[in-house]
Amino acid sequence: MSVLLEIAWDVPMPTGAEALLQKTADACVEAEGISLPVYAQLRVTGDEEIRQINREYRNIDRATDVLSFPSTDCKPQKTLGHCEKKLLRERDETGRCFLGDIIISLPRAAEQAREYGHPLEREFAYLTAHALFHLMGYDHMRDEDKERMRAMEEKALNKAGIGRVTDEELIALAKEAMQFSYSPYSHYRVGAALLAKNGRVFTGCNIENASYGATNCAERTALFKAVSEGVREFTAIAIAAEKSIAWPCGICRQALNEFAPNLRVIVAWGDNRDEAALPELLPHSFGPNSGMLDILGKE
Ligand code: THU
Repeated sequence: MSVLLEIAWDVPMPTGAEALLQKTADACVEAEGISLPVYAQLRVTGDEEIRQINREYRNIDRATDVLSFPSTDCKPQKTLGHCEKKLLRERDETGRCFLGDIIISLPRAAEQAREYGHPLEREFAYLTAHALFHLMGYDHMRDEDKERMRAMEEKALNKAGIGRVTDEELIALAKEAMQFSYSPYSHYRVGAALLAKNGRVFTGCNIENASYGATNCAERTALFKAVSEGVREFTAIAIAAEKSIAWPCGICRQALNEFAPNLRVIVAWGDNRDEAALPELLPHSFGPNSGMLDILGKE
């Protein structure tokens, strides 16, 4: 094991959390390519405690989800040689190098897990990975730095087996949503699962109406649920139908294009599946910027 996470719980923790966080830490250090033995201290605490630490060390008098205090001045990957040399010099009597301290607020993590609709364990693992990459010199001040840090976090979480929703999981969620289909007129049941950039999944089914015209497709049900909860960025949608493969209808393509013009569209029917990008399904689309360009062009 190349990294040791020394964990102190101020608050009761879910069983198995320790092993998961250690696995996450291993994956982070491995993703960064550090082979020297290193360690970090993680303290899981309450809102008031993290607030005090935030006030004392950063002069910010409020609670937050995670704090990290690096002990080395490591820089990310591109200067790995330099970083390893530094770490070598900073080894303690046990031969390990102390990366720094991490503090996580349990109530904050629980609140965020609820918000994102994923398990507390995933939120914990994410916060641990985020903090560890800070300890290894990453930051998110500029967009490009933020992207690089996000990519590393994602890579490590995937490696630790708690990555984001897979296509298979998204399809399974779409199939599950299909059971709620209200389709007494067509008897054509459809379910959809829309994956947001923040990792949340919104599901939907088709909801028919005696007027026929007032019918809402599964895709738009999922989309409108998400947008009505303040989520507007999406990466993929899975659509499951019972009787045939259901590519989204024209109205749904247009509605999806409004928020996610590059959305991956996955369709599933029984064991069959197919995939296309939204621009293939809606070429030469009219989107939120089209009207603007037209106005600008006329000026
Ligand atoms: N439907 C969807 O929900 N999504 C699609 O992609 C295709 C069609 C619904 C609408 C209607 O309730 C039924 O399927 C038959 O058209």
